[in-house]
Amino acid sequence: MSKITVPAVRARKVRDGGDPLVMVTAYDAPGARIVDEGGADLILVGDSVAMVVLGYDDTLQVTTADMAHHVGAVARAKPRALVVGDLPWMSYHLSPADAVTNAATLIRAGASCVKLEGGRKRRPVVEALIDAEIPVMGHLGLTPQSVNAMGGYKVQGRQRDAAMELVAEAEALTEAGCFAIVLEGVPDEVARMVTEAVEVPTIGIGAGPHCDGQVLVFHDLLGIEDRITPKFVRRYAALKHDAVLAVGAFAADVRTGRFPSHDESYHLSSEQAEALGLYGSATKSA
Ligand code: KIV
Repeated sequence: MSKITVPAVRARKVRDGGDPLVMVTAYDAPGARIVDEGGADLILVGDSVAMVVLGYDDTLQVTTADMAHHVGAVARAKPRALVVGDLPWMSYHLSPADAVTNAATLIRAGASCVKLEGGRKRRPVVEALIDAEIPVMGHLGLTPQSVNAMGGYKVQGRQRDAAMELVAEAEALTEAGCFAIVLEGVPDEVARMVTEAVEVPTIGIGAGPHCDGQVLVFHDLLGIEDRITPKFVRRYAALKHDAVLAVGAFAADVRTGRFPSHDESYHLSSEQAEALGLYGSATKSA
């Protein structure tokens, strides 16, 4: 099957007959292979890596170099899915030129496009990136890089004016040239208004069923992260639970001498064992 491209994603508007888009995050090669073989259309190498992989309390801690490291690992799996590199906090806030340089680092690491957070005020940056032939995915609503400005991870667009503002922000991103927009943490009615207002697909997370696609974080979807379960997460596996049981079984086998078995060990040939004076202790050849 051929690789998924930016124009193919841009054309996937549900109202125009497109199938809903499926995006899942991944941060390394095995994760990318799982997401790709699972049939996702897009792999987002999200700055959520800071929280779900690197153990930080927010996404503000990762740099462009960190993101490039993870984008490279995902790209080396050569997925069919479109690889989206997330621009981290402070990589596109200083100037459009700085944003282009940082985005180019992610493209050279293997991303086919980048994602950034924010609306109207990002227009000059989005335009500069597109001018440099770097496709851009927008991200509106609950934008985790604004956690301090928002006063926490709070659902956005709950009031009429804020909802109208979100629609205007999405229109501005579309006019600037974004090929898709992530809508995070907004009421489903507002996500529907945005989705109806723009020509490009919306991809929701905590934004209800009316978007043109859905995204979940790998560790949430698979139950690797089990400390908190936000309302919008559906767990399709309990891999943390299964992994703890597996490590526990290994520990028990080691402590009781059941691991490794004869078949799980290498052996000398009987001639070599005899030459070493071990005849009788090495019973089978390797
Ligand atoms: O970094 C990330 O994983 C994201 C998704 C939650 C959309 O931005």
